[in-house]
Amino acid sequence: MIIAVDGPAASGKGTLAAGLARHYGLPHLDTGLLYRAVGLAVRAAPGSTDFDREAVAAARRLDAAHLTDLDRLTGAEAGTLASRVAVIAEVRQALRQFQRDFARQPGGAVLDGRDIGTVICPEADVKLFIEADSKARMERRARQWEARGQLVDRYALYHQIEERDARDRANPHGGFFRAADAHLLDTTRLDIDAALRAAVAIVDGVLASKAASP
Ligand code: C5P
Repeated sequence: MIIAVDGPAASGKGTLAAGLARHYGLPHLDTGLLYRAVGLAVRAAPGSTDFDREAVAAARRLDAAHLTDLDRLTGAEAGTLASRVAVIAEVRQALRQFQRDFARQPGGAVLDGRDIGTVICPEADVKLFIEADSKARMERRARQWEARGQLVDRYALYHQIEERDARDRANPHGGFFRAADAHLLDTTRLDIDAALRAAVAIVDGVLASKAASP
């Protein structure tokens, strides 16, 4: 079974995807980490031609070993750089096969990102599109970082999230929209346990209706 979980920055999709993977005993790939790793590997300044060239080369070199330094990969700098490399078509293309191979391993997988249900796995068995309002997302991300001992400027973080959302939604190569067959889950007023219960109910519902149809 392939489960695709898409949604904007800090919507809780990563935590939900990890919870679904545990619940159904499936491997999980946070595809944002790939873009983050590519962003961090580029030394040239954003906007320069060298930036694009280096980003494409880094995407072509990327393998699982680049995805282990989670502290660095999940920070704000990596998030912003990720959304800058994510608008480069050749970068997306270079990362596509890695994600597809992960999804199509025997038994299936859970992948979360922006374009899983639309581009990477349009054939996914279940698609979830996670939403939450910008303030709730900012607050969650702030608490995550504070739990790690970081000082957080909530005003700056809110604007960073909004700016990243705008770039992701306007990305002509991004595939970031709700697929027609994706189930919408708004987590604004749900804590993580309630959100996971809601997601499991959606997946179980889809599986039951597939089993019932001839
Ligand atoms: O999900 P996360 O916030 O870690 O993703 C970081 C950035 O990587 C996103 O803002 C987006 O620009 C890019 N991304 C993408 N497609 C994906 C996953 C992430 O474009 N499937």
